[in-house]
Amino acid sequence: MDKILLIHGANLNFLGKRNPELYGDLTLAELVNITKIEAEICNFEIVDYQSNHEGDIVDFLQVESLKSVGIIINPGAFSHYSYAIYDALLDTSLPTIEVHLSNIEKREVWRRKSVTAQACIGIICGKKELGYKEAIRILEDHLQSVRSTSIG
Ligand code: DQA
Repeated sequence: MDKILLIHGANLNFLGKRNPELYGDLTLAELVNITKIEAEICNFEIVDYQSNHEGDIVDFLQVESLKSVGIIINPGAFSHYSYAIYDALLDTSLPTIEVHLSNIEKREVWRRKSVTAQACIGIICGKKELGYKEAIRILEDHLQSVRSTSIG
């Protein structure tokens, strides 16, 4: 089965305890599980990872992207300033969707810009867990269209 990386950054291990109006009331484990179920329907296997450390996410991307066909990432606050994760995502050359549970465009000014999203083919904000299901479907469509173009 083709593998999709599902990566969460800083503080997302605290989902379920963080502001539910912004982030929903699911724990990270529940969120990952919902995404895995959606991925299985599309014949993808999810390889999930969470870290509060920027460099660990870079290390994970460098190793695991070699065995994967796509990436879904919610970098948390790293989104707004991590050029290291931006570079690591670009270096994978894999189609990547960035997901945010909250609508970062309607929050503090510093949160409205995502550095890492600029290495992605799409960004989904403010749809809570539905954003992850949508990300799977976008990756599926994207990979199918790339494959059909390369078959000609
Ligand atoms: C978040 C939005 C970020 O600005 C914030 O730092 C997070 C969560 C989201 O999913 O809405 O930790 O990525």
